[in-house]
Amino acid sequence: MIEALAVERKAEQNEELKERIQQLKKERNAIILAHYYQRDEIQEVADFRGDSFLLAQKAATTDADVIVFCGVHFMGESAKILAYDKTVLVPDERAGCPMADMVNVDGLRELKKKHPKAKVVAYINTSAEVKAETDICCTSANSIKVIESIDSDEIIWVPDKNLGDYVSKFTSKKMIIWEGYCNTHDMLTVKDVYEMKEKYPNAQFVVHPECRPDVVKLGDFVGSTTGIIKYCRESDCQEFIVGTEDGTGYQLRMDSPHKTFHMATKYLVCPNMKVNNLKKVVRALETMQPQIYVSPQVAEKARGSLERMLAVK
Ligand code: 13P
Ligand code: SF4
Repeated sequence: MIEALAVERKAEQNEELKERIQQLKKERNAIILAHYYQRDEIQEVADFRGDSFLLAQKAATTDADVIVFCGVHFMGESAKILAYDKTVLVPDERAGCPMADMVNVDGLRELKKKHPKAKVVAYINTSAEVKAETDICCTSANSIKVIESIDSDEIIWVPDKNLGDYVSKFTSKKMIIWEGYCNTHDMLTVKDVYEMKEKYPNAQFVVHPECRPDVVKLGDFVGSTTGIIKYCRESDCQEFIVGTEDGTGYQLRMDSPHKTFHMATKYLVCPNMKVNNLKKVVRALETMQPQIYVSPQVAEKARGSLERMLAVK
């Protein structure tokens, strides 16, 4: 009984916060962009939901004055770089990406010295400074196309070794792969997947390439977050084991309310993505803080890498 009342109260509070957000959005001419890994209530209030690629594209083309970026820090930075005249707010500055922190400028420069002919491809999950040292960015949605677009047979790939391993299977180019990884996706094991397949024998396993190579190998479908969402929506299959971050369930259920989705393990939750909440969105819009800052010099160099990625067809 007390629990039910608490749930009701929370729902009421969320409704109040959502109303306040709508009001503030109008006053500030703001748009809310939310990654698919955000809490459900944030995705509900967003003007646009997407994966890293779609959100970067949206940030680059919006005519709003203010972008509230609900995701992690490198995503807000990418939005700022692509829309430098806009104010980019994040609900909480502490929402970072451990994988992005696994590569730094000094380490990358050293590797470039060792392989002077190689072109650098940086996953969008990198800092603005690393992007500025990079020839072109990519996301999990376009990584294979990006690699193929490059006029070099040698590629330095940072920072995700799992995505790097996946991409390397689609190219004859020599790939020098950094040793980074996503703590969340990397947690899923072959044992977890086998257990789920045994429990749900009719389900297809859909998996993000940030997972370990031996897990990715088991996928009935391998793709970016948007790729997984699209595949599940269009497939005739009615039941799926989902090998990507838990928040994706929101869009999967919206698109296919009659299909069944089982998260591959309860550990597939990115704590950084969940740091944001509605209260922090309200506060950001009220105070216009915290804002993302990128120095003009870094932004200019990093923008080239992002824009080259956006131009790849
Ligand atoms: P995508 O948004 O490209 O699917 O990447 C997943 C991710 O981990 C984002 O941080
Ligand atoms: Fe970074 Fe992984 Fe979280 Fe994405 S899911 S923000 S890659 S830690």
